[in-house]
Amino acid sequence: MEKKNIDWGSIGFGYIPTDYRYVANFKDGKWDEGQLTTDPNVTLNECACVFQYAQTVFEGMKAYTTEDGHIVTFRPDLNAERLANSARRLEMPVFPEDRFVEAVVQTIKANEAYVPPYGSGATLYVRPYMFGSNPVIGVKPADEYQFRILTTPVGPYFKGGAKPITIRVTDFDRAAPHGTGHIKAGLNYAMSLHAIMDAHRQGYDENMYLDSATRTKVEETGGANFIFVTKDNTVVTPKSNSILPSITRRSLIYVAEHYLGLKVEEREVYLDEVKDFAECGLCGTAAVISPVGKIVDHDKEICFPSGMEEMGPTTKKLYETLTGIQMGRIEAPEGWIKVIE
Ligand code: PLP
Ligand code: COI
Repeated sequence: MEKKNIDWGSIGFGYIPTDYRYVANFKDGKWDEGQLTTDPNVTLNECACVFQYAQTVFEGMKAYTTEDGHIVTFRPDLNAERLANSARRLEMPVFPEDRFVEAVVQTIKANEAYVPPYGSGATLYVRPYMFGSNPVIGVKPADEYQFRILTTPVGPYFKGGAKPITIRVTDFDRAAPHGTGHIKAGLNYAMSLHAIMDAHRQGYDENMYLDSATRTKVEETGGANFIFVTKDNTVVTPKSNSILPSITRRSLIYVAEHYLGLKVEEREVYLDEVKDFAECGLCGTAAVISPVGKIVDHDKEICFPSGMEEMGPTTKKLYETLTGIQMGRIEAPEGWIKVIE
C-alpha cells in the first residue's frame, strides 16, 4: 500500500482529513450495521441534544507502524470499556465493546495510507465519538445517537517534541460540575478551554488542576495524567475519582513494575510534596510521556533536577519501554497489541 505524500516528520497535533470514517446510528432502541463513509461532514437538526446539552463522549487512541512493518493499535478493549462507562454516565446507549474494536480495526485498515511509517515520529490518531442526534428541548437525553470514528495523522502533542514543558498550578477546575471528571465527555473539555487558553496566554504549556474540594491534591492536566519519580526512584501517580483513568498510566504502572522492576505508588499526591520529586511527566495517548521541567505555583517555582533540556532518566526508561512495546521492538504483555495487518 502506497503511503500518502505527507511530510510525517513535520506534522503537529492537528486535523488532517483521511479518506474514510466510520458511522453507525442508534434509532428505535438499536444500533444499525454501521459502515465506512467518505463524507467528513455531519448534518444535524438545530435542536440536536449534542448542541443544546453537550451530550457527547469520545475516546482517543493511536495506530502505529511497527519495526517489522505491521500496523497495530494499543489496548483498544480498554478504550471500548471506557467509552461505554462515559456513555452510561451521560445516559447514552453503549456501543457494544466488541463492535467498537471491530470498527476501530476496519477504520484504521481503510486509512492505511495515512498510518505514518515506522520511525517517522508520527502516528495515526483515532478518535471514536458519539453524540445525541435528535432534537430535544427539555433537559433529557436524546433517543437517537450517532457513533463515529475519525482518524488523522499526528505528530507531538506539545510544541518542541520531547523537550520538557512548563506548566502552572491553576485556580480553575477541570471537570464540569456533578463529578464527571473521570469520564471522557465533551463537556469536561469545554470547561477546560478557558483555563488552557489562559495558561497559553501567560506562557505555560498546560495546567495542573487541583482537587476542587480542598485544593491541596494534584489531579491531572487538560489532556493527560501525571507521573512523578521520587529521588529514590519510586514511580508515584495520583489516585483520584475525578481524573480520567488513563490507559497510558495504567500501562506505565505495569511497565514500571514488571519490565523495569521499579516500585510504584498510586496514591493521593499533595501539591506540597511535588517540590521533593526528582522527575515529572504527563502521560496519555496524545502526550505519550511529555516531560515537565518546571511547575509554577503562583509566586513559587518548582524546577525539577532533570532541567529544561532532557527527559529525566527514569521517565526516559518508561518512555523507551512503552513506545518500544507499541512499535514492536519490545515484547508486549498478552493482549496489549491488536494487529490490524
Ligand atoms: N486525562 C485527560 C484529561 C485526557 O484527555 C487524556 C487523554 O485521553 C488522558 C488523561 C490520558 O488518557 P489515555 O492514556 O487513556 O489516553
Ligand atoms: C488523548 O490523549 O487521546 C486525548 O484525548 C487528549 C486530548 C487532549 C487530545
